[in-house]
Amino acid sequence: MKHRLFTIASRSRGRKQSSPLASRSFSRLSSQSDRPSFGIAFDIDGVVLLGHIPVGGSPRALRRLYDDSGELKIPFVFLTNGGGFSESKRAQDLGQLLGVDILPSQVILGHTPFKQLVNRFEDKLVVAVGKGEPAAVMSEYDIWTTSLGLQINVLSIDEYTSYFDAIDPLATYKRWTTKTDIDQNITSNETAKRKIAVQTERVQAAFVVGDSVDWSRDIQVLCDILRTGGLPGKETGNQPHLFFANDDLEYQATFPAERLGMGAFRIALEAIYNRIHPIPLAYTSYRKPNPFVYGNAETVNLDVENTTNSGIRCFKTLYMIGDNPKIDIRGAQQAGDPWFSILTRTGVFKGKDNHSEFPADLVVDTVEDAVDFILRKECGS
Ligand code: G3P
Ligand code: MG
Repeated sequence: MKHRLFTIASRSRGRKQSSPLASRSFSRLSSQSDRPSFGIAFDIDGVVLLGHIPVGGSPRALRRLYDDSGELKIPFVFLTNGGGFSESKRAQDLGQLLGVDILPSQVILGHTPFKQLVNRFEDKLVVAVGKGEPAAVMSEYDIWTTSLGLQINVLSIDEYTSYFDAIDPLATYKRWTTKTDIDQNITSNETAKRKIAVQTERVQAAFVVGDSVDWSRDIQVLCDILRTGGLPGKETGNQPHLFFANDDLEYQATFPAERLGMGAFRIALEAIYNRIHPIPLAYTSYRKPNPFVYGNAETVNLDVENTTNSGIRCFKTLYMIGDNPKIDIRGAQQAGDPWFSILTRTGVFKGKDNHSEFPADLVVDTVEDAVDFILRKECGS
């Protein structure tokens, strides 16, 4: 049976990805000497936002990176382990919260590296887990492969679960309703077809795109998928691939103490899986502090002017502003030259002095202090 029965992934297919840079002119920076020899990567949670609230003077700090007419003066990106929504939606939301114009190419999320994986799952059934719009995120990445004629079919774990009666024995005790991402125009005939397809096709990969909302159900269903070789309720088979967008044990949101993150969910899933299955859980994640993410940010996202100029930029300094010593600062240290790490006190790190295990190159109170330091050092302003 062909997975083309599933239409969710194809909603965005065929939409042309417009060049994220086309709308912004870099004319003011066009001559080699005008171009700043430095760039900035901002962590989001605990540095520029706490939940949905700007922190540390972040709107003011970011405005300093644009000229009076709103043109970008200083190359910068957001480098976060967070996710759940597409880069374009996150760029729009950040722009509104912070009062500046942000392009999708300036947003690197925990799941952004998944873009490079989708062609491994040509015409395969894939499940996307987590808050937000996990299936839409993966479907949008599929755009990048359409020119190759490839196709993946992504179902959110909410929708996937809905095709298996009684798979979650606690469902009747849950007092919330689950939005399943199912197209409202879908006919009952189509739903029946999807159900048959899902119950007979093996899941080839699970992508944890955002934080799990319902740990008990997601751990149950992922264990089912992973230990049966992709077909819950059936005989066992080889473990499908499992990818996590990040492995953060804790992160800073609005509540004064840190909150459990995707790394905590991974530990819970792994501990349970390894008790019920003889072969240990295998999984992969590409995220901070992996130096790969920093290298990619430098060559693909920060080096934006190369799309309009042929010269290869050589940054003298790239500043990573983060709140988590074990993630942001450690990653910048491992990435090495030209990364310079700045630790703020608005998030996970609240110490007086530097962190003992992963000391930053500089510790400041807020992101505004960090930008102030950078602009004084680089531009004398
Ligand atoms: O879920 C988000 C969190 O794990 C980390 O976000 O922006 O601090 O990398 P950030
Ligand atoms: Mg953070």
